[in-house]
Amino acid sequence: MSNDGVNTGRRRFLVAATSVVGAAGAAGAAIPFLGSWAPSAKAKAAGAPVRVNINKVQPGQQIVAEWRGQPVFVLHRTPEIMEGLKTIDAQMADPQSQQSDQPDYVDASARSIKPELLIVLGVCTHLGCSPTFRPEVAPADLGPEWVGGYFCACHGSRYDLAGRVYKGQPAPLNLPVPPHSYETDNVILIGVDEEAV
Ligand code: FES
Repeated sequence: MSNDGVNTGRRRFLVAATSVVGAAGAAGAAIPFLGSWAPSAKAKAAGAPVRVNINKVQPGQQIVAEWRGQPVFVLHRTPEIMEGLKTIDAQMADPQSQQSDQPDYVDASARSIKPELLIVLGVCTHLGCSPTFRPEVAPADLGPEWVGGYFCACHGSRYDLAGRVYKGQPAPLNLPVPPHSYETDNVILIGVDEEAV
């Protein structure tokens, strides 16, 4: 009686234990399967939109955000910079950005949604170096003609403060304008198109 009781109890335990292993095995098999379909958290983060607060970016200042592993220049342009841009159209390779990469909803030559706020990828269209923000006028190393812009030190490409490349540079096109939109007056969403908001 007591042995039967022990054996019966042990048998019940073994059956129960096998069921648990079976369930765990099934779950273990399901996880890699699902994992192969769902993007990893890292992949999602890499492609996710980026919020940039521009509240503290003063006129004439630039901050650099990061989106998809690339630098994004966010420049608060002054009225003087905007006026100056109009006077150098003839020196630009693609002044109206007809060949260059930018969304339809940005102004063709100012290359922005709001005139004063430029958002461009900080990636030279020659071989991908990141140009330097050089807003000063006529610095010794860039010469008397320099009116402020972006300078790519890798092979000397020059861009204006709309990210437009000058004629005759190694870089063929303007700095790309990424998809972006305004979540509020002070918050830009990089990676989300204006019309999608
Ligand atoms: S990578 Fe910028 S000039 Fe060559």
